[in-house]
Amino acid sequence: MTQTATYTVEAFVDDVKEIFASSKDPLVQAQAVSEKMKELLAVPGWLEEKLNLPEEGGFGRYDLHIDEELGQPGAGFYLMATVQKPDQTQLPHDHGVAWVAYAVYDGSIKQTKFRWAFPGEGVDSPQIRETGTFTQKKGSVAYFLPGEIHQTLNVSGGRALVVRLESQKLDTLTRYQYDPKDNSVKVMDR
Ligand SMILES: [Fe+2]
Repeated sequence: MTQTATYTVEAFVDDVKEIFASSKDPLVQAQAVSEKMKELLAVPGWLEEKLNLPEEGGFGRYDLHIDEELGQPGAGFYLMATVQKPDQTQLPHDHGVAWVAYAVYDGSIKQTKFRWAFPGEGVDSPQIRETGTFTQKKGSVAYFLPGEIHQTLNVSGGRALVVRLESQKLDTLTRYQYDPKDNSVKVMDR
């Protein structure tokens, strides 16, 4: 009798290590990790169990793995989960020199992407401009390469459970936050 083994977060972390060890290209890494994250999202129940999550609430950030040896561009890839409140959002931001993959385990989040426009590109003064939006539903994974600017909004109408992989722990990196209201930019607080 054959038995199909269930994919686990531990096996996922091993796969991510192998991906970082075998390529130095952020795009190749982000694509490969995203495929593995989709597999992990297809396994029901593991996150609630891992976090010992109550039926409601439990908002906040939970560490799942911090790597000492591997990452991009430096060591320290970080797997975590956020339990988000309805309508939870933040200002548009980048991820410094890191790339990040967002995996929706439950609920749905709207992603909005931005880029700067300058004179010569149809504006009189520099503007941080929305360039597109898409909604990530349960089971969906999206990655953002170094330098990309985005904003997330929990549109679930309830809590959202989002698993995130940071190629190098963002808390250790300098990165920027953007305000479209006045086109200002500042270093994000760590
Ligand atoms: Fe982000």
